[in-house]
Amino acid sequence: MVSQRSVGRKDKPVTDFPILGGKRILLVIAGGIAAYKSLVLIRRLREHGALVRVILTPAGERFVTPLSVAALSEDKVYQELFSLTDESEMGHIRLSRAADLVVVAPATADLLAKMAAGLADDLASTALLATDKPILVAPAMNALMWEHPATQTNIGILTGRGVRRIGPNAGELACGESGPGRMAEPEEILGAIVSHFEMAAPDRGPLPLSGRRALVTSGPTIEPIDPVRYITNRSSGRQGHAIARALARLGAQTILVTGPTAEPEPPGVQVIRIETAMQMLAACQGALPADIVVCAAAVADWRVKGIADHKLKKDKGETPLLELVENPDILATLSRPGPHRPGLVVGFAAETQHVVEHAIRKLARKGCDWIVANDVGAGTGTFGGDRNTVHILRACHGGEPTVEDWPELSKVSVGERLAVAISDHVLAGASRS
Ligand SMILES: Cc1cc2nc3c(=O)[nH]c(=O)nc-3n(C[C@H](O)[C@H](O)[C@H](O)COP(=O)(O)O)c2cc1C
Repeated sequence: MVSQRSVGRKDKPVTDFPILGGKRILLVIAGGIAAYKSLVLIRRLREHGALVRVILTPAGERFVTPLSVAALSEDKVYQELFSLTDESEMGHIRLSRAADLVVVAPATADLLAKMAAGLADDLASTALLATDKPILVAPAMNALMWEHPATQTNIGILTGRGVRRIGPNAGELACGESGPGRMAEPEEILGAIVSHFEMAAPDRGPLPLSGRRALVTSGPTIEPIDPVRYITNRSSGRQGHAIARALARLGAQTILVTGPTAEPEPPGVQVIRIETAMQMLAACQGALPADIVVCAAAVADWRVKGIADHKLKKDKGETPLLELVENPDILATLSRPGPHRPGLVVGFAAETQHVVEHAIRKLARKGCDWIVANDVGAGTGTFGGDRNTVHILRACHGGEPTVEDWPELSKVSVGERLAVAISDHVLAGASRS
């Protein structure tokens, strides 16, 4: 859990994350409104004992002052590529190498494009090209800039090269619009940095799910009626995201296919965002093969037949009737026997009554291996809440399924316990074969 504690600059560092002690972070602050959040990030990193050196782009300097950055980082701020003093004290090559991790926050559309293209026309882009250290980017921009195919292509190129990403989150943007583009919060970026160092720690030993591929679905799907209206459900994605994060922490190479949610992207997880059930199925099939599949998304059972090309008008004098058609069954499709069937397929059953009985039937009907059944009835607070009470049903070939009742836990704890149960199952299977 990320500490919310704040201490003065002269106080001793908070030691909740001792792993950050002495770590050298090169932070590149580019020119976006979210640059002010990077000041909080510097402060948090310093509180945890990390050494922060900052490159501020000329555009970045329009949003935060070098004085604030220098005061918070307790170091000089690097701005010029062609600065005799900087080059003699610490040139761009040394600057980029004398770090354990390079963090770009905010990562502007411009800087991401430069990184993808390999440009080196200022200090930030040159250092990013010259570094041999891992890079974490926290994109921040207007939603249309983020969704533009150019930016998405650049992000794809960078991800393919191993650059890690946190965010952007969806929500209100500084430009007054809303959508994906908000920079991840400083605490989330801090969490991603901690995860990076935890995963890279040499004394960590091999992780139980190292070398395994996991696919997790999360969140709701939304099914359009016309260009402005849609049908959806109350899923927050909190449970699915917690499972993806926990599997990644156990070493699985994890892909998260998610519908629209306000949840931050789990660190170390490749996130694929979709909207409809059809898109979710295509994304899941594209992500195979996988050793482990966890279908935690609340996929809409039906979609609207014949989505209207234009907004349905009220003044027509008649109430439109929506005809629904069934969506593909993603869990059943992924559970189907065949050479590419994942070794373990886990489904979720969200029920409002007779939770276990319905889940037993669902387990048989879908052909999956486990079902995590939870009560989402009114008053349980499961949808949108932080806590969950689940029952784990395991198919027993040729017999009744086993049922394990878990106590009420936070969704994070359910994710962690489920990931451990999955890893025990996978390792037991490996030792049998
Ligand atoms: C008020 C204002 C806010 C801006 N916010 C962003 C932003 O959030 N994200 C972004 O990618 N670009 C933003 N820009 C545009 C960048 O500042 C511009 O592309 C600049 O060239 C980025 O340079 P850099 O990537 O070297 O820092 C903004 C520009 C202005 C004037």
